[in-house]
Formats: sequence, structure tokens, C-alpha cells
Amino acid sequence: MSSLPSLRDYTDADLSEVVALYTAAIHGLTGDHYTAAQRMAWAPLQPDLAGWRERLRGLRVLLAEERGVLAGFIAWDADGHIDLLFTAPACARRGVAGMLYARAEAALRAAGVGELRTEASLVARPFFEGQGFDVVEVEDVLRGGVSLRRFAMRKRLSAS
Ligand SMILES: CC(C)(COP(=O)(O)OP(=O)(O)OC[C@H]1O[C@@H](n2cnc3c(N)ncnc32)[C@H](O)[C@@H]1OP(=O)(O)O)[C@@H](O)C(=O)NCCC(=O)NCCS
Repeated sequence: MSSLPSLRDYTDADLSEVVALYTAAIHGLTGDHYTAAQRMAWAPLQPDLAGWRERLRGLRVLLAEERGVLAGFIAWDADGHIDLLFTAPACARRGVAGMLYARAEAALRAAGVGELRTEASLVARPFFEGQGFDVVEVEDVLRGGVSLRRFAMRKRLSAS
């Protein structure tokens, strides 16, 4: 049985649960597109929690919960950069990311942002295309000496 997720703002107390979800999403949902070495470089099994705390403090972070359990999260910059979007493997393809993204886009529109940007993984590219983003560049970035493919994507927001 599933119920609609509820959304709430992140606090520092959510740090370890958020990082655990990030790690689980990468290791559980990207295996068709990235090798084990790539996944390990992208999401080390022993994450740098202090680094994560600093990173998340600089972002607007929204959580989706199902019956009190974290189902996904999104994080963005005030300038329109969608930095992080991750869904728990057990909750994938149930609209969690769509719900989080819709709230983030609404907030950015309300703030008068004219363009959204993200760097999407091979897994996330179809999600962002479905939200109206276009690929502007294919990028291969190094993480821990391992190359990872991603796509710089943009979406213009109309004034209305
Ligand atoms: C990408 C991700 C956030 C999508 O989360 P989700 O909650 O499963 O997405 P939704 O259920 O809201 O998907 C909405 C639509 O996006 C598209 N989509 C989502 N995941 C997809 C996938 N793996 N392959 C193809 N299309 C996908 C589909 O059109 C989907 O609609 P449908 O299920 O009716 O076909 C999730 O797969 C994830 O965390 N992936 C691993 C980490 C990652 O790559 N994060 C993004 C970093 S840039």
C-alpha cells in the first residue's frame, strides 16, 4: 500500500538520513548506466558528513516523506540551479521526484528566476526532459579519478 508523500524543509537533524538516501539511490538505481567503480566514486560508502553539512547549508533543501520515512529530496540554489534530486530505490517511479521538482520550480518561478539549470545523470536525463529541460552539453567529469558522464541541461521559464 502506498500513500502520497508529504513535503517539508530539511533541517540539520536530517543530515545522515539524506546522505544515506543519496548513497542508496546511486547504488540502487544507476547500475544500468554506471559501473560499480563509477558508483563508488560518485557515492563513497563512507561519506564525508561534514562536507555534506556545509554543502546542504548553502542550498534550499526539501524532503519527501512517506509515513515518516524519507522517500526523496531535492536541493537547489536561489539562482535556479537544481543541484541534487534523489529518490529512495523502494519509492522509485512513483512520482516522488516529480512532486519535489514541481515544488522547487514553483518556488523559483515565484522568486522571478527566468532559467533553470541542472547537471543530469544518464538516469535523470529522461526525468528532466519530461520536465521540459533540454541538453546543452555532454560532460565527462572526474570523481576520485573516475570519469562520469552527465548532461548540462536548461529550461527557460516563461513570465506567466
Ligand atoms: C532520477 C530520479 C530522481 C527519478 O526519481 P523518481 O521518483 O523515480 O521519478 P518519478 O517517479 O517522479 O518519474 C517521473 C518520470 O520521469 C521519467 N523517469 C524517471 N526515472 C526514470 C528512469 N530511470 N528511466 C527513464 N525515465 C525515468 C519517467 O518519464 C517518469 O514517469 P513514468 O514513471 O510515468 O514513466 C531517481 O531515479 C534517482 O534518484 N536516480 C538516481 C540518482 C540520480 O541520477 N539522481 C539525479 C542526479 S542528476
